[in-house]
Amino acid sequence: MIFSAFSASSAVNKKKVTITIDGQSITAEKGSRLLWVALDNGIYIPNLCLLKDMEIPPAACRLCIVEIEGKPGPVTACTEEVYAGMTVRTSTPMVQRLRRRAAELLIASHPANCPACGKNRSCQLQSLARNLKLKLKPNRLRPLVHDLPIDRSHPVLLFDPNKCLLCGRCVWVCKERTGLGILQLTHRGFETRVSTFMNKPLAETRCTGCLECVQVCPVGALLPKQ
Ligand code: FES
Repeated sequence: MIFSAFSASSAVNKKKVTITIDGQSITAEKGSRLLWVALDNGIYIPNLCLLKDMEIPPAACRLCIVEIEGKPGPVTACTEEVYAGMTVRTSTPMVQRLRRRAAELLIASHPANCPACGKNRSCQLQSLARNLKLKLKPNRLRPLVHDLPIDRSHPVLLFDPNKCLLCGRCVWVCKERTGLGILQLTHRGFETRVSTFMNKPLAETRCTGCLECVQVCPVGALLPKQ
């Protein structure tokens, strides 16, 4: 009984639907995430926090804002599932304004010292700033950077929490892909940070140095030790 109910819902999910993004007609699987449908069809929507295998999007970066006809306000494309007749606009003046504001907040919370960073030129925040034509030194917002100690204890990776954008990708892969759950989001509000249980140095945890977290970090907060 359970099996047949599951099959029925999978069959529904596999149904093809036609949606419109910025006037372009696109066929996609019903229920797939709007963000991936757009990106897979060559329509760029900025994003920093979603990974393809995440079942529940964290919607932490707020960059993938779009407008959908019939919705009262802008929504995040990573949390929206496509349905027949969905009409999406990815760059209305309101979307652009909100997206730039979200990006400016991320930039303001990140140290502006790219030449000294191991991720310089492969950093997703740099690409985002380039795409949105924003400077990496915020001129409208006061910098909101922390002054936290860098964890250099581990033999193969180092963690600089001051560069962290709190996208949550490392926390997710550490739990869901490796099953270790060593990295966690701790504290609240402005004090929120990625840390370990009891804020232990990584070398004192069960971290195996798989570097999954390093691979998904969009900036240079987690880097291989070289
Ligand atoms: S990708 Fe949608 S909120 Fe980050």
